[in-house]
Amino acid sequence: MRVLGVETSCDETAAAVVTEAGLVLSDVVWSQVALHAPYGGVVPEIASRDHARAILPVIRESLMRAGIRVDELDGIAVTSRPGLSGALLVGLQAAKGLAWAAGKPLVGVDHLVGHLLAVFLHRPDEAASPAPAYPFVALLASGGHTAIYRVDGPGLGAIRELGATRDDAAGEAFDKVAKLLGLGYPGGPAVDKLAAQGDPSRAGEVVPLPMARRDSLEFSFSGVKAAVARHVAAKGVPSGQALADLCAAFQRTVVDTLVNKTIRAARQEGLERVVIAGGVAANKGLRNRMAAECAQRGFTLAVPSHASCTDNAAMIAYAGALRLAAGERDGMELSPSTRTALPRVTRKGAGPR
Ligand code: KG4
Ligand code: ZN
Repeated sequence: MRVLGVETSCDETAAAVVTEAGLVLSDVVWSQVALHAPYGGVVPEIASRDHARAILPVIRESLMRAGIRVDELDGIAVTSRPGLSGALLVGLQAAKGLAWAAGKPLVGVDHLVGHLLAVFLHRPDEAASPAPAYPFVALLASGGHTAIYRVDGPGLGAIRELGATRDDAAGEAFDKVAKLLGLGYPGGPAVDKLAAQGDPSRAGEVVPLPMARRDSLEFSFSGVKAAVARHVAAKGVPSGQALADLCAAFQRTVVDTLVNKTIRAARQEGLERVVIAGGVAANKGLRNRMAAECAQRGFTLAVPSHASCTDNAAMIAYAGALRLAAGERDGMELSPSTRTALPRVTRKGAGPR
């Protein structure tokens, strides 16, 4: 089965062709990052307009690179939620138009399910860890979401949230801290790079571990960001080694929290297989710490390739292919939603604890 995936939930216009075995035949990502950079975050109206400009060329390119015509596809998968409504609409309209015109089945995919299944993608040109067996515990940390899940299978009913952030997502914290430190947008990669040259102990007192209750699987990152903001307000933006040390301290705090809670979740569920997913899973500090902590306990860690961690349409095509293989279909009434279809246990905005 060869499925076209379409992704426009945030600031990447993406299309990919993937088989139901997860083989990536093409993967095209048009990033809007440069358009949003002057604003230090994603501007929804700019996102929708640029998706509308890019969507058809990106889809055409993905079909061309896969060497496949629309009539040879077995179906079309599109991100229907969660995301910015106007941005999602562009991908949905394009996917519906194509599915209708070519007489192909259409399936909507939850973006978070796409991230959680990205670890099953094989890219011929990239090394990735072997795909895990179900069930596993997954940490999904991106710019919009941060949560831990128990994943018993690929379907919505087989994925259970164990805990999520009560305020900012981990990637959002990286982006906001980077903005405070004048490191540009998106901030994750810049902070990651500087952190590698810093000593977290030299700025450790600036960024204390979040207050989130130790035995809870919920996260809170707004306090970490506020601590950096207070430091910058009092002392100004550091430079040189002091800047690297501050990045290292911030990153260590975020990584410690993400790793400790994921390991606790695996223990609680009695599972020895761990997966990390989402843009923040590209973070070198997180990859290294999670690998070390898993190895120490005899857990296996599966990490998607870098291109599979950040937003892409290959993960959407794959999740859609599994839905199509299970005989599922959506109709032309498929509409966008800002919320995930996965059941949630953490109440956002409930404040740190
Ligand atoms: O999954 P993603 O591409 O988009 C969302 O669904 O949100 O994640 C983007 C987020 C951004 O906040 C970005 O700063 C963060 O992932 N990110 C990183 C790294 N690379 C991307 N955060 C920390 N370290 C990185 N190396
Ligand atoms: Zn994402």
